[in-house]
Amino acid sequence: MKGIIFTEFMEMVEDRFSEEVVEEIIELADLPSGGAYTSLGTYSHAEVLNLVTCLSQVSGAKVEDLVQAFGEYLFGRFADVHADFFDNVSGSLDFMMKVEDYIHIEVQKLYPEATPPKLSCNRIADNEMILHYASHRPFAPLAKGLIQGCAGWFKETIEVSMDALPGTGPGTEARFHLVKVA
Ligand code: HEM
Repeated sequence: MKGIIFTEFMEMVEDRFSEEVVEEIIELADLPSGGAYTSLGTYSHAEVLNLVTCLSQVSGAKVEDLVQAFGEYLFGRFADVHADFFDNVSGSLDFMMKVEDYIHIEVQKLYPEATPPKLSCNRIADNEMILHYASHRPFAPLAKGLIQGCAGWFKETIEVSMDALPGTGPGTEARFHLVKVA
């Protein structure tokens, strides 16, 4: 998985916790990469899962809450770094409908080794959508955080319910029901 996910995770830990906590979790996780990430590098997604587990141990926060918070933070960073993707998009559901066929495609051009997940959207109504997530990685909880980060970026409230699907293992496939609350 692309290094940007790792560098942003470390930034979040430094911002929300401290530089010492960053060092502590790198030490505890005993990573094959040694924890020295660059945004254009490519690393095993298992490392970020390992780092989140270690952060949970060190901070006492639940893994689920940390992944969710990371998804929200990451969306904000994507929006800062790739502001052009947000031109002429009026709301979060419209934006999410562009991720599969436009944004994740552009991402693959920008980061050639990227293999983003599959996201398919079925718009049921102006304020309601089904988003189906499938990946070879168990990152459905991260997708939930990104969805909430997206709603927050557009200053909208979206009720998100997630149904886990079997996929190729826990967390690899899910169906999200999204309802925008007026
Ligand atoms: C709500 C909108 C979005 C959702 C739900 C979403 C979902 C995800 C998830 C869950 C992953 C983790 C990898 C996996 O599951 O296999 C991912 C990877 C990624 N996404 Fe998105 N994403 C969204 C928007 C964006 C945007 C706006 C950008 C960039 C501007 C972006 C760029 C990336 C990149 C660079 C990766 C890493 C892929 C790799 O390393 O193989 N995503 N996305």
